[in-house]
Amino acid sequence: MAQLWGGRFTKETDELVYRFNASISFDQKFINQDIEGSIAHVKMLAKQGILTEEEKNAIIEGLNGILADVESGALPISDKYEDVHSFVEAVLIDRIGEAGKKMHTGRSRNDQVAVDMRLYVRQEVTAVDELLKELLQTLIRIMEENLDTYMPGFTHLQKAQPITLAHHMGAYFEMFKRDRLRMKDIYARMNYCPLGSGALAGTTYPLDREYTASLLGFDGPTLNSMDSVADRDYVIEFLSALSTIMMHLSRFSEEVIIWNSNEYRFVEIDDAYSTGSSIMPQKKNPDIAELVRGKTGRVYAALVSILTTMKGIPLAYNKDMQEDKELTFDAIDTVKGCLALFDGMLKTMKFNGEVMAESAMKGFTNATDAADYLVNKGVAFRDAHGIIGRLVLYCIERDKSIEELTLAQLKEISPVFEEDLYDAVSLKTCVQKRLTIGAPGHEAMEQVIAINKAYLAE
Ligand code: ARG
Repeated sequence: MAQLWGGRFTKETDELVYRFNASISFDQKFINQDIEGSIAHVKMLAKQGILTEEEKNAIIEGLNGILADVESGALPISDKYEDVHSFVEAVLIDRIGEAGKKMHTGRSRNDQVAVDMRLYVRQEVTAVDELLKELLQTLIRIMEENLDTYMPGFTHLQKAQPITLAHHMGAYFEMFKRDRLRMKDIYARMNYCPLGSGALAGTTYPLDREYTASLLGFDGPTLNSMDSVADRDYVIEFLSALSTIMMHLSRFSEEVIIWNSNEYRFVEIDDAYSTGSSIMPQKKNPDIAELVRGKTGRVYAALVSILTTMKGIPLAYNKDMQEDKELTFDAIDTVKGCLALFDGMLKTMKFNGEVMAESAMKGFTNATDAADYLVNKGVAFRDAHGIIGRLVLYCIERDKSIEELTLAQLKEISPVFEEDLYDAVSLKTCVQKRLTIGAPGHEAMEQVIAINKAYLAE
C-alpha cells in the first residue's frame, strides 16, 4: 500500500478496505489523460510564478518519461498504489525528487479525476463518431448500388408495400446520422475544463484556469467549482447516446438475422462473419448480428448504473463517483467493437435482389396501389378498399397474385378494371411512382443520396 494521505491516520488501512477502495485496476486506462492534465497544470503553475521554470521542466520531463516507460512496458503499473493519480505522483517523486512534490500544488484528486474522465470521454466521443461515419459510408454505397433493388417493406413483420433496398438502408442511414449529431452535441456541451476547481471550493493560488483549459483544448473553464467536481452529466449523455446506437444496431441485427434465415434468404452473411455448429454440419449461424443484439443489454446497464449512482449524491465529490468508470469503459469498448464488426459484416454481406423482388411480388404488397387505381377511375377510396379486399381473397383462393389474374377474372370483382391495371400494380410502378422526398422512388432516393453525400463530405 502506498498512499498519498497517511498523515492524519494512526493505523494502517485494513487490506480488504484498501482493495475495496482502490481504483488503479481500472483507472490506469486513462494514464495518458492523467499525464496530459498534469503537464497542462504545471505549465500553468509556472506561468503564474507558482513553480520555477526548472521545476516545471523537471516535472514535465519526468511525466513524459513515466508515460514512455509505461507504454514500453519498462514501468508496470503496480496495484500497490490506490489509483493512477497516486501511482504517477509517487513514481515522479521517486524519479525527480523535491520538484515532484510540487506538482499537486493547487489541485485535488477531485478536479484531477474530473479532468481525466472528461478528456477520456471526449476522445471516445470522437472515436465513436468516426466509426459511425464509416458505417454511414458503407450504407450510402449500398444505397447507391440498390436504387432499383425491389423488396417488400413490412409493418407488423407482414409484407406491406414494396420498397427498395436503398430505401431500407436509407432508414438506418438517418438513424446513425442522428447518432453522429448526438456526438457533436455532447462534445460541445462537455468541452469545458474542471481543472483548477480544487477539492470543491477552488484554491487560494492565483491559477489561470483559462490558460489550463486552452492548453487541453477545452472551450473554457467550467464556472462552478462544486459542479465541476460533482458533474458526470456528460458521462450520462454519452452512455445514453451509446445506448441509442446499440438500440439501432440491435434492430438492424434483428433484421439481418431474419433476412439471413433459411425462410427469407434475402441476404447471405459472409463466411468470415458467420460461425458453424459443433453438431449440425449444415449450419452457418449469424453470430455477429446476434452478439451485437445481445450486447445491447450491457450498454443499457452502464447507463442505468450511472444514473442510479448519481441520483443520491449530495454535493460535491463523493466516493460513489468512482463507480463512473468501469461500466462506462466497458460500454465504450463494446459499442466501438459492435460498430466496427457490424460495418464489416455489412460490407461483405450479399444481397439477393431476386429473392427480395420475388418476395415483394408475393404477398399483395401492391394492394394499396390497386385500390389507388380504382380511386383514379372514380371509385371512392372506402369502396375501393372493400373491392380490393375481395380481390385479395379471390387471389388467395386461387393461389395467384393480382397481376396473374386475367382481365375477365378481374372484372368478376369489379367492372372498373381495365388492361392498364397490370401496369398500375407492377412492382416497378408501385415503387417508382412514390416520388415525394423521403419515399422510395428512384429520383426521390437520388435526391436524398445527394443530400447525404454532401453531408458526409462536410
Ligand atoms: N479514484 C478516485 C475516483 O475515481 C479519484 C478521486 C479521489 N478523491 C477523493 N477525494 N478520494 O473518483
